[in-house]
Amino acid sequence: MSDCDVRSIHNLALIGLMGTGKSSVGRAAAELLHFAFIDTDELIENETGKKISEIFMQQGEAAFRKYERDVVNALSTRRRTVIATGGGLVTDLSNLASLKSHALVVCLWASPETIWQRVREQTHRPLLQTADPQAKIKELLEQRGPAYRQADVLLHTGFRSTKEVVQQVLHQFNLARSAK
Ligand code: S3P
Repeated sequence: MSDCDVRSIHNLALIGLMGTGKSSVGRAAAELLHFAFIDTDELIENETGKKISEIFMQQGEAAFRKYERDVVNALSTRRRTVIATGGGLVTDLSNLASLKSHALVVCLWASPETIWQRVREQTHRPLLQTADPQAKIKELLEQRGPAYRQADVLLHTGFRSTKEVVQQVLHQFNLARSAK
């Protein structure tokens, strides 16, 4: 029996590095499941009235991680919700454990090269505002790989369209729910 069999799976949580498609896949999956959609970064921005980049700049990363923990704790009572998480959220393994207590956790994975292609035109991610963002992506993937691999499902998005990724995610979610 896998641990999904004895778990309460009310929600679907998407984890993974920035640029793996958590928000776009999550929105589409929520629509098809008739679930609500929430994004932890958006919740933090709404609650603080600040952009994530402002929080990093004014209060530092540790303060942002504290907001993430508070948001994760508040999610445990949610039902029928797709949750897209910020890329660093599950590096605190207690956040991952909390998500697993109510959600199937799916990690969207991509190579550093694919991630770079997807994020290179974007400027809103504080962790990539460095001299060598490609090296930073590699470093983050290496650091966080062990946490990401603890997801219930690891899905490579590299050669798949968003639609295909959504289909795979929904397939895994339905399997996990019917196995209960
Ligand atoms: C972060 C990823 C971002 C956001 C913040 C920190 C990270 O979310 O939470 O900039 O540590 O990888 P996305 O993964 O949605 O870009």
